[in-house]
Amino acid sequence: MARITASVYTSHVPAIGAALDLGKAQEPYWQKVFSGYEFSQRWMREHTPDVIFLVFNDHATSFSLEMIPTFAIGTAAEYAIADEGWGPRPVPKVLGHAELSAHIAQSVIQDDFDLTLVNKMDVDHGLTVPLSLLFGQVSAWPCKVIPFAVNVVQYPIPSGRRCFMLGQAIRKAIESYDEPLNVQIWGTGGMSHQLQGPRAGLINKEWDNHFLDRLIADPAGLSQVPHIEYVREAGSEGIELVMWLIARGAMSDVARGATADAAGGAAPRVTHRFYHVPASNTAVGHLILEET
Ligand code: DHB
Ligand code: FE
Repeated sequence: MARITASVYTSHVPAIGAALDLGKAQEPYWQKVFSGYEFSQRWMREHTPDVIFLVFNDHATSFSLEMIPTFAIGTAAEYAIADEGWGPRPVPKVLGHAELSAHIAQSVIQDDFDLTLVNKMDVDHGLTVPLSLLFGQVSAWPCKVIPFAVNVVQYPIPSGRRCFMLGQAIRKAIESYDEPLNVQIWGTGGMSHQLQGPRAGLINKEWDNHFLDRLIADPAGLSQVPHIEYVREAGSEGIELVMWLIARGAMSDVARGATADAAGGAAPRVTHRFYHVPASNTAVGHLILEET
C-alpha cells in the first residue's frame, strides 16, 4: 500500500522564485531566506518520495476569475509551468501520477468531499516556488507531483475545519492505494501577509509562531479558528494558511478511525522548523513533520 511518510509546509513568495531564477540567491537579503532551506534540501535528497501531493493555490492564473473551484485535484500526466505575466519560470515541467490522482479522487469524492477534476492545468508560483525551495535548481523534478488547488483567492473560501477533515480523507485515500509508494503531502502558502489596502505590509510574528506551535501540537483545535481571525491577525493573504491544515490532517496522529473520529498514531517528529521576516511582503514559515 502507499504510505504518507512526511508532511512539508512552506510559504510560496513569488519573489523567491525570481531571486533563484535571476541568480540572486547569494545576496545577503535572500541568503537569509534560503539558509532556512539548506537542511531541508539535504533532507529531501535523503528522503525523496515517489509522489508529492502538493496542496497549493492558483493565483487567478490557471483558473482565471471566471471559474474558481473550491478544491481541484490535478488528474493529468503532466502540468506545464504557467505564464504569470513575465513568461513561465525556467523550471522543469511537473510530471503527475494520473493513476494515483484518479484513485484519490474516487476515494475522497465517495467520502463526501466534492472535488473538481482538472485534466489540464498550468501551475503557478504557488506550486513551483515550494518545489524550488525544497529541491533547488534542477533539470528535472526528482519525483511525481499531484497538484491540489484550493480557492483562497475569492470568498467564500473553505473553512480550516473543512480543510483539516479533507486532509483526513486524503490520508485514507492514499493509504488505500495498492502500490508501495512513498508519498509526502505538502501544505503551502502563507504566512502572514497582506498585499493590498491600508494594511498592506502587515506581518504578525507572534501569531505566525503560535500558528506553527498549534499546527504541530493541536491541529484539531487550530482547525476551529474562523476566517476572520486569519484575516485580522495574519492579513488578507495570510488566509492562505488554511491550506496547511489539509496536509496536517493527513498525518497519522489525527487519522479518522474506522468507527469514530478517534486519534490514530504517534505525534509526528518535528524534523525542521524555520521562520523568517521579510521576504518580499511576506513572513516565511517552513516545517517538516515526519511520521515516526
Ligand atoms: C507575495 C506573496 C504571495 O503569497 C503572493 O501570492 C504574491 C506576492 C509577496 O510577498 O509579494
Ligand atoms: Fe500567494
